Parts: sequence; structure tokens; C-alpha cells
Amino acid sequence: MTADWLPTRVIGHRGAAAHAPENTLAGIALAADLGVAMVEVDVKLSRDNVPLLMHDDTLERTTDGKGAVATTDYADLARLDAGSWFGSGFAGERMPTLAQALALMIEHRLCLNLEIKPCPGREVETAEVALTEALKLWPADRPPPLVSSFAIESLEVAGRVAPGWPRGLLLEAALSDWGRVSDRLTAASVNIAAGMATPVDVANYKRGGRRCLTYTVNDAEEAVTLLAQGVDAVISDCPDLILQRLPRRTKD
Ligand code: G3P
Ligand code: MG
Repeated sequence: MTADWLPTRVIGHRGAAAHAPENTLAGIALAADLGVAMVEVDVKLSRDNVPLLMHDDTLERTTDGKGAVATTDYADLARLDAGSWFGSGFAGERMPTLAQALALMIEHRLCLNLEIKPCPGREVETAEVALTEALKLWPADRPPPLVSSFAIESLEVAGRVAPGWPRGLLLEAALSDWGRVSDRLTAASVNIAAGMATPVDVANYKRGGRRCLTYTVNDAEEAVTLLAQGVDAVISDCPDLILQRLPRRTKD
């Protein structure tokens, strides 16, 4: 039997983004050291179609580079410092390829929520390239990654390229036809912004056996409330603080 894709109630956001630069190997390693069982990271493509971890479409906020990821080759992205903006202790941290990030997660036996974060217009190829690579690398005996996205087109591609991996429909605001869309995608989860979660909404999103995840939850009391309302897992920049506040469960 395939292992449950959601083995925990607390997922580290972009690694452990409150404690280490987001979407870096340092952040993934730190999440593992903090006892986190699952991390969320964002994947997009360089100009030459190398899948790498990066949230923004542009380089300025989280690197010492300038310009758009979609117009920069990986060789140039790989030279950038993706850690100093966060703290001098992380100077020299690089923007990892998806392959480097997966290798580290596999080494630490982390589970994965892989958010397909395409640069505009690259919804199809980002999902195709990233998932083709991830399928080659992810061990069959580990829980399958949750493939999440705001981009419905990317999730459609995910259903074709990695049909055995669960898909999560990301919502940042109420979407009137979310039910039809998630049925069509056979989504295993709906991942909503924390502000969208009322007990009634959560119950609705979970109809038919779907899971409901919420992001980004950095307040431990809020996490406790959301989980009590039926949310299956929270995605947090400080997953360690949330874990400390929850009653111990072997699963976490
Ligand atoms: O997957 C949850 C969350 O990461 C979605 O928003 O913008 O942080 O990628 P964002
Ligand atoms: Mg994300």
C-alpha cells in the first residue's frame, strides 16, 4: 500500500523560512534538524529550463542578482548569493536546483509539498520539466510528494505527468467554482490561505475525502484553532514553534 502523502500536521514553508533563507538547502536542512517531517518549496524554471527553487519571478528580493528568472540561464543563477539578504551567516547560500533539493530531502527522509510556481506563461513546461525530474529522483518507497499550485494548467499537466502523485489546488481567495475545478483535477487537497478558513468552509473543502491545508500560519494558537476546525495541516515559516505547541503525536 502507498504510504500516506500527509504524514504530519505541520509543514515547513519554503523550508523553514523564519529561520533560514527560503527555498535553500540551508533551510531544508534546518527544517529537518528542527524535527519537521515535511517541507513546502517553490519550483520554477531558468531560461534554459533548469528547474530550481525560487519563489519570486524576479531576483532582487532574495538574491544579489537583478532581473527576471525566466530570462536568466541557470549558470548565471547558480553564481548568485541567495543567503546574504537573510543574514550574514547564510552568505554564499545558492539557489538550489530541484535535483539538489530533492537529494537533501531524501537524505533527511523529509516528505515534500512541491509547489509548481511558474513564471507567467510557463505553466505547462514548468510542471512538465519539474515533475519529470522529480519522478526520476523520488524514491518509490517514500510517501509521494504533494504537487500543489495556484496555476490550474500546471496541475492539469501534473495529472498527466505524475498521475500517481496527489495534487493540491492552492487558493488565495474564494473561488466560486473550486468544487468543479478540484473534481476535474481529482485534487487530493485544497490548500487555502489561513484567512479563508471558517469551520463551515473547511468542512466544505474536505467533502469527498479531500484534505484541507492552510498557509501561512506562524502563530501557534491560530494553528491549534485551525487544526481543531478540521484543517489537516498548517504550512508555517516556523514549524518548530507550532510543533512545540501541539500535543505530541507519533505521526508528527
Ligand atoms: O503552498 C503554500 C504557499 O507557499 C503558497 O503561497 O506565495 O508562499 O508560495 P506562496
Ligand atoms: Mg509556496
